[in-house]
Amino acid sequence: MSHIPVLLQPVLDFLTPAQRVIDGTLGAGGHTRALLDAGVAEVLSLDVDPMALEIARVNLSSYADRAHIVHASYGDMVAQAHQLGWKKVDGILLDIGVSSMQLDHPERGFAFMQDGPLDMRFNPIGGGISAADLVNEADEAELADMFYKYGEEPQGRKLARGIVSSRPYETTRQLATMIERITPRRKGDKIHPATRVFQALRIAVNDELTGLERVLPEAIHLLRPGGRLAVISFHSLEDRIVKQTFKLASTDCICPPNVPICVCGHTASVRLLTRKPLIADEVEIAQNPRSRSAKLRVVEKL
Ligand SMILES: C[S@@+](CC[C@H](N)C(=O)[O-])C[C@H]1O[C@@H](n2cnc3c(N)ncnc32)[C@H](O)[C@@H]1O
Repeated sequence: MSHIPVLLQPVLDFLTPAQRVIDGTLGAGGHTRALLDAGVAEVLSLDVDPMALEIARVNLSSYADRAHIVHASYGDMVAQAHQLGWKKVDGILLDIGVSSMQLDHPERGFAFMQDGPLDMRFNPIGGGISAADLVNEADEAELADMFYKYGEEPQGRKLARGIVSSRPYETTRQLATMIERITPRRKGDKIHPATRVFQALRIAVNDELTGLERVLPEAIHLLRPGGRLAVISFHSLEDRIVKQTFKLASTDCICPPNVPICVCGHTASVRLLTRKPLIADEVEIAQNPRSRSAKLRVVEKL
């Protein structure tokens, strides 16, 4: 299945009209294409996944020089913008996480319902550790912490113990079957027992939360006054980082409440355009169930 861009209309409403926009997570190019169709003059579109770039290049071939497609991390967006001679931009979009194409290709190792190598790297040609490396080499306590911290998995310790006892694992099904054995699905469970462990491994393999924490201040810095940063996240760990970063960036004084006169000198660099995150409506969720957990937060540079 090709990837359906989530929360498309609100993204367009917030980010257009504009001349120069960065799409930090190109994927299949759905958001980039819609931004160009909505009149954005040029979009710099980044992705670390060569497969995504290949698909997006085909999807965006008719836009030629208006779509600058680059194999790079959103963590390098400042350098990439400077390469185009862009000192400031009008808008930035980050649509964090895994795409439908990545989930639908078992050889990428993201999906526990299909069999494939336990990989999960967004950039499989960039070196780095795979999910198999982590599962087979991390010690039990490290795995338990990872499952708890990145998967919010309440049974993390039990799962880590059981997983370690039957190593090694090479494929997604081997690991998912073991997880099902350790924590069988109970009646009423909304998600598959492997969901949280797979999420935790993916976040750890790609160091996703650190990447997000680092890029948000850089992205804010890159905006011109009045420019906007829109971030779509898919689980509470990411959304918490976005929410807290935006809160801090939109606050003047951040002195503790008992300090009578401001000594921090902190000033707001943005204003919040979404006090509460925007979520998909029922129509969108019916058309694209993946949008159910999407949350959009937007700030505007002061
Ligand atoms: C949810 S998809 C984006 C879908 C896209 N908005 C569309 O409409 O098709 C997220 C994309 O972000 C990419 N990605 C993950 N980490 C990245 C990073 N650090 N830098 C750039 N892209 C990244 C993934 O490879 C994936 O293609």
